[in-house]
Amino acid sequence: MSIVLEARDLRRHYSISRGLFADAATLKALDGASFSLARGKTLAVVGESGCGKSTLARLLTMIEEPTSGSFRIGESEVVGADAGTRKALRPKVQIVFQNPYGSLNPRQKIGHALEEPLLVNGRFTAAERSAKARGMMQLVGLRPEHYDRYPHMFSGGQRQRIAIARALMLEPDILILDEPVSALDLSIQAQVLNLLADLQERLQLAFVFISHDLSVVRHIADDVMVMYLGRVVEQGPRDAVFRTPKHPYTRALLSATPVADPTHKKERIVLTGELPSPLNPPSGCAFRNRCPLAQDICAAKVPVLEQKGAQQVACHLV
Ligand SMILES: Nc1ncnc2c1ncn2[C@@H]1O[C@H](COP(=O)(O)OP(=O)(O)O)[C@@H](O)[C@H]1O
Ligand SMILES: [Mg+2]
Repeated sequence: MSIVLEARDLRRHYSISRGLFADAATLKALDGASFSLARGKTLAVVGESGCGKSTLARLLTMIEEPTSGSFRIGESEVVGADAGTRKALRPKVQIVFQNPYGSLNPRQKIGHALEEPLLVNGRFTAAERSAKARGMMQLVGLRPEHYDRYPHMFSGGQRQRIAIARALMLEPDILILDEPVSALDLSIQAQVLNLLADLQERLQLAFVFISHDLSVVRHIADDVMVMYLGRVVEQGPRDAVFRTPKHPYTRALLSATPVADPTHKKERIVLTGELPSPLNPPSGCAFRNRCPLAQDICAAKVPVLEQKGAQQVACHLV
């Protein structure tokens, strides 16, 4: 199995000014994430809004530098790499955002938007660029006549196909998908998820698939990483996390998602309490103020990820 992306204890902390006379506060947007991802596989990253998913995406796509930790793309270490190495690595990891409209120029024809990454790269003639764009359009299920149309002429689902096509133009090994279907209607979500699964299979792409919704990643994930307030609370193979979730937070997330099998009765866990401010998280386990199981030790000690069965869990009580 060839590992195309490997992260070791990635952290990103932000310094937040609290005014002229107060010290800056530290917001730990991402506070330790480690994983390895093989060619053709999907790591799903799941958690509520604000838990650090997009921060992780920005680090992996080299938009931002981690505060600490390291990661490698293929065989090359990224953190601390020289400009030449970074430039060579950049095309290998591409990102697709929730709202593709924001990243498409409204006055640029779709065909030209697809060719743009090739222009920047500089290796192709105009005829080659056009041929590649048309080939990619076909691969993602767009029609040839779409080449000359503008972004506003497409539906949300089609625009997401365009964003995916654009991300694939430089033949990356890895796609970071940051809530790629969250803005789409349910029926369109399924189409885009099927397209992604198909592209993954054909092109042997590795995906980091980010979602706030566990049910979205159930079929596409190979591994799942569940995050809460910047920290990983549970991580492991998809079947282990879905069939025998161990962290109370994962169990609560799963109990909120519908199951296809009506004979399968499940406990319904309702989370009480509010999501704490990331600037002022509870001591010990950050989840404890919402946890139905919390005890004294949870306030005293930060739980670390430990192997429990097939997955890793950060909980004192598991
Ligand atoms: N540039 C930034 N400066 C300060 N805080 C940030 C910045 N980017 C993100 N954050 C904070 O980091 C936390 C994680 O944000 P984000 O990664 O966007 O979460 P998610 O994508 O899971 O919703 C949030 O509390 C957010 O407000
Ligand atoms: Mg986000």
